[in-house]
Amino acid sequence: MKVVEQIKLPIIEEMEIFEQKFSESMTSKVALLNRITHYIVNRKGKQMRPMFVFLVAKMVSGGGVNECTYRGASVIELIHTATLVHDDVVDDSNQRRGFFSINALWKNKIAVLVGDYLLSKGLLLLIDSGDFDLLRIISVAVREMSEGELLQIEKARNLDITEEIYYEIIRQKTATLIAACCALGARSVTSDFDKVKQMKKFGELIGMAFQIKDDLFDYGDTAIGKPTGIDIKEQKMTLPLIYTLNHCTKEKKKWLINSVKNHNKDKKRVKKVIEFVKISGGLEYAIKIMHQYKDEALSILSEYPDSDYKSSLELMVHYVIDRKK
Ligand code: IPE
Ligand code: IPE
Ligand code: MG
Ligand code: MG
Repeated sequence: MKVVEQIKLPIIEEMEIFEQKFSESMTSKVALLNRITHYIVNRKGKQMRPMFVFLVAKMVSGGGVNECTYRGASVIELIHTATLVHDDVVDDSNQRRGFFSINALWKNKIAVLVGDYLLSKGLLLLIDSGDFDLLRIISVAVREMSEGELLQIEKARNLDITEEIYYEIIRQKTATLIAACCALGARSVTSDFDKVKQMKKFGELIGMAFQIKDDLFDYGDTAIGKPTGIDIKEQKMTLPLIYTLNHCTKEKKKWLINSVKNHNKDKKRVKKVIEFVKISGGLEYAIKIMHQYKDEALSILSEYPDSDYKSSLELMVHYVIDRKK
């Protein structure tokens, strides 16, 4: 059995119901919008965020979920999808989940509006049901994601990113939403705020490892369903490059900065930069940090009594850093 199937075993029913609800949550009276949302639903991603919502809820409650858990899962996946649609406009990327991105097929104008539509649908779902607790968790995550993407652009312009700022960027743009998954999964089944807080921390740690893994993919050339090698082109400096900049000679540093600043569209030059990062140990360093986050996340889980849900979450933590796409 594949790892993902094994992880899903204790939440198989919930994931099926979720998919139905998720797909319904997008419907609109506008035919063009329906065409596009169909396209999105038929090319689903790994659905790791809803999986976190259900697994955390079931681990914390000892097996129960409720309407609030389902709503939380749908809202998170709606928001996640909205940010991906926008992110591909921002990153000028033409591929997502192995197919053309929305902007590649329908152009930026439409992609921006579809992203807004999905975002508003997510927030309305919570307002209509009066889930103001969840609404706050989600709204904070959305604000942080926008700030994270903007901080990233600011740093790409000045090329003055430090390791600390990199962690702040990925915490905001990626870890916050995964933290929200775990927090709301817990919140949907308990009023024990210490537990909710602890699960939020757990999600944040996973989210950090998750984005470091995503940034490592960009240095590889295996097919992951989206373009690789585009971060430097977009002047996005991620951990492998930041480490290399801080551990090379002055001359090399000048060459690296000049490459990213003035030759980032030159494929040959970018390839050379990638090679240099590789021989400088940039990837190994990022992998080491990723494992530190993973271990910290696992240590939070170890405080919970053994159950199928906990085992699945442990597998999920390993999957975050071992996954092939
Ligand atoms: C991609 O997230 C965006 C990042 C935060 C790196 P996923 O890798 O979870 O995307 P899908 O939903 O599986 O396509
Ligand atoms: C993550 O950033 C996307 C968001 C959190 C919005 P990336 O730009 O690195 O994600 P991918 O690689 O395009 O999925
Ligand atoms: Mg992107
Ligand atoms: Mg990326």
